Amino acid sequence: MAAYHVVLVHFPMALWMTAALAILIRAFSSSALALSIDRALTPLLFLGFLSGAAAFAVGLMVWPWEAVSSSPLGRNHALLAAWTLAYWTLMMITRWLHGEAVWHGLMRFVMAGLALIGAGLLGITGTLGGHLIGVYTDVSEVLRRLGWEVYRTFYLPDTTLIALAAATVLLLAIGWWGRKSQAA
Ligand code: HEM
Repeated sequence: MAAYHVVLVHFPMALWMTAALAILIRAFSSSALALSIDRALTPLLFLGFLSGAAAFAVGLMVWPWEAVSSSPLGRNHALLAAWTLAYWTLMMITRWLHGEAVWHGLMRFVMAGLALIGAGLLGITGTLGGHLIGVYTDVSEVLRRLGWEVYRTFYLPDTTLIALAAATVLLLAIGWWGRKSQAA
């Protein structure tokens, strides 16, 4: 299964990285080229979702779960892979449901920021996968300097979880309030 995982992971990595670039181009340009690139964005994200889900499923079969889950590096790779897949799936749903509206006003810069975060998550997932097979990159050195040693289990302090829950409630309230004032 390892060989299948290694082949498969290249598809979501290429597709999501291209999607991030497409979002950045569209966020900063309304030229004919940027508009054409944007028309390809939802199909690109959909293919990224399909291949990402396949890479994720095959990833779970490479080593026995006991082996993956008993190593901090294995756990970190699985965790970041889950976040990456969930994150890009949400990006796909957002672009699909909101269409052109995601490029209106300041939203285009929010999209640019989200694309950079998504590319970062994907880069970290790939880096951790590389560490699992002994191929290292400087990304882990950057993470180390930011305070995360990739060979130790990544964890979120309780206060961060509470802050995340509060931010979620706040964002939902802003969205609900925005929709209400739009309808009025
Ligand atoms: C979108 C999801 C994923 C991506 C992008 C990804 C990416 C990668 C990459 C780039 C490698 C290094 C491959 C190489 O260059 O040879 C790798 C290896 C590996 N990944 Fe993932 N991965 C994903 C999901 C998962 C999941 C969910 C698991 C299971 C928990 C997993 C388990 C592994 C294992 C065990 C290896 C080492 C393979 C070997 O021994 O040859 N991966 N992954």
